[in-house]
Amino acid sequence: MSSKKVKNSDKSTAEKTTNNGDSFLDQTLRPTKWEEYIGQKHIKDNVKILLRAAEERGHIPEHILFYGPPGLGKTTLAHLIAKETGKQIKITSGPAIEKVGDLASVLTNLSPGDILFIDEIHRLNKMVEEILYPAMESGVLDIIIGKGPSARTIQLDLPPFTLIAATTRVALVSSPLRSRFSGGVFRLEFYSNEEIAEIVKRSSKLLKVKLENEALKEIAQRSRFTPRTANYFLKRCRDYAQVHKKTLDQETVKGALDMLSVDGMGLNSGDRRFLETLIEKFNGRAVGLKTISAALSEEETTIEEVVEPYLIQLGLLERTARGRVATKKAYEHLGFSDKIKKPASSSQGGQNNLL
Ligand code: ADE
Repeated sequence: MSSKKVKNSDKSTAEKTTNNGDSFLDQTLRPTKWEEYIGQKHIKDNVKILLRAAEERGHIPEHILFYGPPGLGKTTLAHLIAKETGKQIKITSGPAIEKVGDLASVLTNLSPGDILFIDEIHRLNKMVEEILYPAMESGVLDIIIGKGPSARTIQLDLPPFTLIAATTRVALVSSPLRSRFSGGVFRLEFYSNEEIAEIVKRSSKLLKVKLENEALKEIAQRSRFTPRTANYFLKRCRDYAQVHKKTLDQETVKGALDMLSVDGMGLNSGDRRFLETLIEKFNGRAVGLKTISAALSEEETTIEEVVEPYLIQLGLLERTARGRVATKKAYEHLGFSDKIKKPASSSQGGQNNLL
């Protein structure tokens, strides 16, 4: 099997250090026990019961699907489940499994009880998906040999396995596939600032970085309610403090994050450009996804999956039936208060009812 298609997660330290320092650190920061995994209480409670019950019955856990915006810890959860259950985890992704043969190879190379993690499962193609159904449901691989009238199907028994899949686009996972995640389909939520602060505190200890309390809060506040962003900012602030020979206090964090063009609400230059385009170029009108995508030369999926969820969460953007609209709060945050339209007093009505 090509090593590009599937990865065994238990790399030696030597292997890890051949990566760049950051991806090594990212693995170091991953929680290895439930107690270290902060937030997502609903998911933790349910998954812990699922795993415990399966263990007590002497069965392998049923298949699980995690979905939600990037960086919230879907992969981290899969690794954590593997650690907590003492199982091996094999990692692959939707785009890496191009052909039926790729999936057949991944499945037949599993050992009994393994966890198979498929990231971006919404990107599996139809033919591959259809091979996955009987594998998930009945633990068999249906292989078609030959073509035309002489074609026949043989069935291979697979080692028992648990599929853990992740997606940022659950609506693109077909309903037959979704329904086969008999262990549950779980949505990861954005974290609170307090939870992010706890994650940053834990990471700073692991990285042996001394971080003042106000500095911790400043990082948390700008981290888009997202652990991956928070850990990334912590590492960049550490670099900045090191090079400038400063302690990691609130001022240093502000200096480091301002240099990354991340503002006090955690908006980056792409977020601001998005909102400014709605406000200035389209004069506050509701704008369709295709139009804004063309105006920004940005992919629709990036806008929908990465940019918009955070802006909506902050109350800076609304998705209306007519399109995307920046809210009053967005106008104020970006210094466009003078452009806020007064509610129409006449029967003509305003251009948009949010402002
Ligand atoms: N890293 C990523 N997600 C995390 C979480 N929920 N708790 C602790 N560390 C994390």
